[in-house]
Amino acid sequence: MSNVNPTLSGKVAFVTGSGRGLGRTIAERLAELGADVIIHDIDWNAPAKYGEAPDLGAVAKEIERYGTRTMAVTGNIGDQAAVRRMAEEITAKLGPVNVLVNCAGGDIGAQGGKPNPNNALDISLLDIQTLINNNLIGTMLMCQAFCPAMIAAGGGAVINIASAAAHFGTSPEVVYSTLKAAVVHYTRCLAAELRTQGVRVNAVSPGPTKTARFVATRKVDPAMMDAGASLNRYGEPAEIADVVAFLAGPAARFVNGQIIRVDGGMTLYAG
Ligand SMILES: NC(=O)c1ccc[n+]([C@@H]2O[C@H](COP(=O)([O-])OP(=O)(O)OC[C@H]3O[C@@H](n4cnc5c(N)ncnc54)[C@H](O)[C@@H]3O)[C@@H](O)[C@H]2O)c1
Repeated sequence: MSNVNPTLSGKVAFVTGSGRGLGRTIAERLAELGADVIIHDIDWNAPAKYGEAPDLGAVAKEIERYGTRTMAVTGNIGDQAAVRRMAEEITAKLGPVNVLVNCAGGDIGAQGGKPNPNNALDISLLDIQTLINNNLIGTMLMCQAFCPAMIAAGGGAVINIASAAAHFGTSPEVVYSTLKAAVVHYTRCLAAELRTQGVRVNAVSPGPTKTARFVATRKVDPAMMDAGASLNRYGEPAEIADVVAFLAGPAARFVNGQIIRVDGGMTLYAG
């Protein structure tokens, strides 16, 4: 058990897509702060895809070192039956979820890598549909499944992981960016809907961040990997996780419907 102030002690936190990448780092941070965490991915072997861990069970086991309860579940967040099954499994084992982090998603097309082509006029319909499921419908279905228990409990916190790409026009990655912009606005709308029921809904928009998939699927700029004191660099997963932990915890108890860009100042403009 770490000596960090356990501000999330007694809370149950579900971090989607936590088998690897940002989700895993976020799950570890919430466990370090005392939360019981549900480790999740689309399938059992997703953590192995970029060499981060052998499988989902190994990730959950590793996080047990923080001394809180963990469980591992699989399911496609864009599939309503799978989301409902996960909600039943989790509630039966750990009780109602208090903190929901919608992290699963990314610019992952139907074949498992980045869509190709990935610009507005040429991306395939199948890739568009896959991206919508992974990045928007999945987030909506998760909120529908887990927010009612938060309302019943008198409060809770939802943190949606959007992207810096949600905040400016760009090509390629057009569909992905558009969907993250939708996640940003969905965050505000859901915050309005749940405001009087004590459930806070916020989003974090990371800039380019050094996860294993990020590094494996693009040509990285070595100068951005290690930029010394400059904030003109790629982010570290822990830098995103710290802000998610803030939004999940009591220090953010009056923060609602906000989008925090964690990008070192890459997007320094309004909107
Ligand atoms: N790494 C970055 O630079 C960066 C920047 C901005 C936003 N983000 C966002 O952060 C989140 C995590 O990204 P990452 O870099 O850690 O990538 P990652 O691929 O390592 O993690 C994403 C996880 O989500 C899972 N997932 C995707 N679709 C799913 C579905 N339909 N059902 C269940 N699980 C699903 C994947 O299997 C994977 O484990 C994503 O939403 C991504 O868009 C990442």
